[in-house]
Amino acid sequence: MDQISRARELQAYCDSVRAEGGVIGLVPTMGALHEGHMRLIKVAKQECDLVVVSVFVNALQFDNLQDLEKYPRTLEADLAFLRSAGVDLVFTPSSQEIHPEPILFHLEVDRLSELLEGASRPGHFGGVVTVVAKLFTITGRCRAYFGEKDFQQLAIVSRMVEEIHFPIEIVPVPIVRDERGLALSSRNMRLDPEQLVAALALSRSLFLGRDAIAAGENDPGAIETLMSQELVREIDGVAKSNHAVLDYALVVDPRTLIRPKRIEGPVRLLVAAKVGGVRLIDNIGA
Ligand code: PAF
Repeated sequence: MDQISRARELQAYCDSVRAEGGVIGLVPTMGALHEGHMRLIKVAKQECDLVVVSVFVNALQFDNLQDLEKYPRTLEADLAFLRSAGVDLVFTPSSQEIHPEPILFHLEVDRLSELLEGASRPGHFGGVVTVVAKLFTITGRCRAYFGEKDFQQLAIVSRMVEEIHFPIEIVPVPIVRDERGLALSSRNMRLDPEQLVAALALSRSLFLGRDAIAAGENDPGAIETLMSQELVREIDGVAKSNHAVLDYALVVDPRTLIRPKRIEGPVRLLVAAKVGGVRLIDNIGA
């Protein structure tokens, strides 16, 4: 596995691969790699000649300094993980390389960034698109892999590619669930066994909503009520303090993230809740 930390070097490398007719797959990450990343890499490896994984903790997308400082930096373990996954190239730039100081340019996102996750994280999606745009211009024409778990991020990045005309094909990668339906997330590690049972309320509420739509319900409000009720329903054997605390349960258009008046085409069901103080998100298509 090659490791590059200079943007110009990665640009030249990718140009030479494309000149030979090779298709490049880009998997942007902030390190602390886990099974979800492994899935992105596996799909990229199946579809591309060269898989580039970037590992860069992007300070611009943290809305508070404490979170940035607490973010796990596990480069040695990440490199071992990427080697075992058969990744061709890892891009590990310094902060100065990606965001030379003083930072005078950054992207902002209208509308889509203020809803859902953005409501509690001002500036977060602006920071995400700024770094992702830089990674796209450094890598150049490629397929870029994003997990559906962060559905809002995926929708915003897809819209950016469409609107700014990046020569990038966004490839959405489905959520990986355990056998009980729980969406895999590094945050699950912070839950004790009882909280893990309580966390199943998120996927259960999504499955319920999806099934109700399949059975003909076309009122988004009715689906949202159904999902919210399931999310906060008491679960036998789980202490009250561990029950899920609802943040939102919504039905949205997958492109605009706006709630439709009626469900007439594909929609995305999105839920967010706190379990034992840990905020979890999940979503499903219907
Ligand atoms: O999803 C992430 O890990 C980050 O938001 C991303 C896309 C790597 C940008 O820093």
